[in-house]
Amino acid sequence: MPVFIKRFQKACLGFIIACLFASCSVQKKAGGDHRADTVLQQVMIESSSQYKLLMKIRPENKLPRTFEKNKLLTTGSDGWVSGFYPGTLFYLYQFSHDSILLKEGLSVLNLLKKEQFNKGTHDLGFMMYCSFGNAAKVLQSSAYDTILINSAKSLSSRFNPAVGCIRSWNSDSSHFLVIIDNMMNLELLMYAFRQTNDSSFYKIAVTHANTSLKNHFRGDHSSYHVIDYNPNNGVVQKKHTHQGAADESAWARGQAWGLYGYTMMYRETGDNKYLQQAIYIANFILNHPNLPKDKIPYWDFNAPGIPAAYRDVSAAAIISSALLELSEYVSLRDKKKYRNDAITILQNLSRPPYKTIGDEAGGFLLQHSVGHLPNKSEIDVPLSYADYYYVEAILRYLGKLEIKMNP
Ligand code: GLY
Repeated sequence: MPVFIKRFQKACLGFIIACLFASCSVQKKAGGDHRADTVLQQVMIESSSQYKLLMKIRPENKLPRTFEKNKLLTTGSDGWVSGFYPGTLFYLYQFSHDSILLKEGLSVLNLLKKEQFNKGTHDLGFMMYCSFGNAAKVLQSSAYDTILINSAKSLSSRFNPAVGCIRSWNSDSSHFLVIIDNMMNLELLMYAFRQTNDSSFYKIAVTHANTSLKNHFRGDHSSYHVIDYNPNNGVVQKKHTHQGAADESAWARGQAWGLYGYTMMYRETGDNKYLQQAIYIANFILNHPNLPKDKIPYWDFNAPGIPAAYRDVSAAAIISSALLELSEYVSLRDKKKYRNDAITILQNLSRPPYKTIGDEAGGFLLQHSVGHLPNKSEIDVPLSYADYYYVEAILRYLGKLEIKMNP
């Protein structure tokens, strides 16, 4: 399609969405979310079409990761982001019941299956629970339980009782590295516990969450990215960053993983200290003086050059999904605040410059995320996990994904 037609389409869509959301704000003041529902339902319809475009350019045996310089970049099944593409397809199917999306999601699961025995990574929660776990949820099927339980066993093999954590990154034997992102992998263990009643999964998840609660957070409730433990006695050797701006900075996605992770652990255990931690993190994020007006964070809350720093749309998407869940567990006053802030994020993500149109980014839904800035990789690009948590948040907002306390 000629570029000028694309530009015209984009300008029109931006205008229509802005008008719909403008009338939505008026409507909301009058007490309803009717227009936001309409817009986000429309976004879901368009998202299914966009993922069908992504499907068409996906090379066999590879999974979408990002889109740069007009080119789709992919991952193999052993990459940490491998589960997000099928997971998003299952979420889109949940909304649309479009069998083309389901068929593609199921065929991709065949690629991922072998990772159930991968003991070389802590990312199995992302890889296997976001994919097979979503298939189980959306299809209400126990057909994936063996794979999910094997994956949980592989993840558990990385637990060190002297440290009280699951090892994140492999390193030499004098270091035991744990990153805040690892909180997200615990959901897989909690699923395996529910299906098997094997309390070792539960104990590992809770011990990891407790150790991280003790060591990963600062006085202001922001989190470090990496904790380096002594593998023999669990003594903290160093607190530092890998993907953030500085050791003492608050890397935006790390704060998002912590918020989502502790909210999920409250859902799975009913332990109030996890709820309290999630509330602390939410308030750190939402009250931060460097959070922009549109609530799409800079890639690091202490990024050099703010306000000329890159935003991280992936962090915003994770935060909006987590806030929608957290809003279910808190007082009425906080419920309103967290829900409204989540909706503000979703509204802003759903229009330019963040939302893409058609195949302008190969079919990815959102742009302007940051993967690893210090490494100079995936800067200001679409990312598969930004799409995943965006679609999850919309489903949560629309009441199409059940969120229920599990203990
Ligand atoms: N888990 C890696 C990241 O958030 O980039």
